[in-house]
Amino acid sequence: MQASHDPCSVVSSLTRHLDNDADTLALGRSLAAGLEPGMVVYLQGELGAGKTSLARGILRGLGYLGKVKSPTYTLVELYDLSRLYLYHFDFYRLEDPHGWIDAGFREYFNEQALCLVEWPEKAGDTLPEPDIDVRIEIPAHGRTVQVVARSAAGQRCLSALEI
Ligand SMILES: Nc1ncnc2c1ncn2[C@@H]1O[C@H](COP(=O)(O)OP(=O)(O)O)[C@@H](O)[C@H]1O
Ligand SMILES: [Mg+2]
Repeated sequence: MQASHDPCSVVSSLTRHLDNDADTLALGRSLAAGLEPGMVVYLQGELGAGKTSLARGILRGLGYLGKVKSPTYTLVELYDLSRLYLYHFDFYRLEDPHGWIDAGFREYFNEQALCLVEWPEKAGDTLPEPDIDVRIEIPAHGRTVQVVARSAAGQRCLSALEI
């Protein structure tokens, strides 16, 4: 993985090439260090892009050692971690953009919780804006990831990124 890190500069977006799943996990771990309660992270990319792998890396970075299940069928998996609550959503199977609100999940977006959202586009414009927007593409080899900060908290997270 390429390394470029200037602790003095404000970073609004960065792109990384990730050779393999271990690299994706490592990026997630690194992002986790700068994630705070109240933040929302969108994870975008086609099926098999590595959205759940990146979420797994974030969870590992936050100290969670257990199984990280894809929330594809449950819409959300809940994690009560030492530093924060983490809600991992996957809206792939959402048929109605309001379905997640009808299911009672709006209150999960709060100041004590970090929310990771796969397939946010399925919720239309009903979701809170993200602090960080991650887009994963599948080139011939590995993955290309663009991480864009959409708030001051998101910029702080990216500016502190170690990899
Ligand atoms: N950087 C990478 N290069 C190659 N394969 C990767 C990379 N990151 C993750 N993968 C693999 O791609 C697949 C991603 O699956 P998953 O995370 O469930 O995707 P999604 O949640 O986007 O549908 C897994 O098999 C994982 O091992
Ligand atoms: Mg997934």
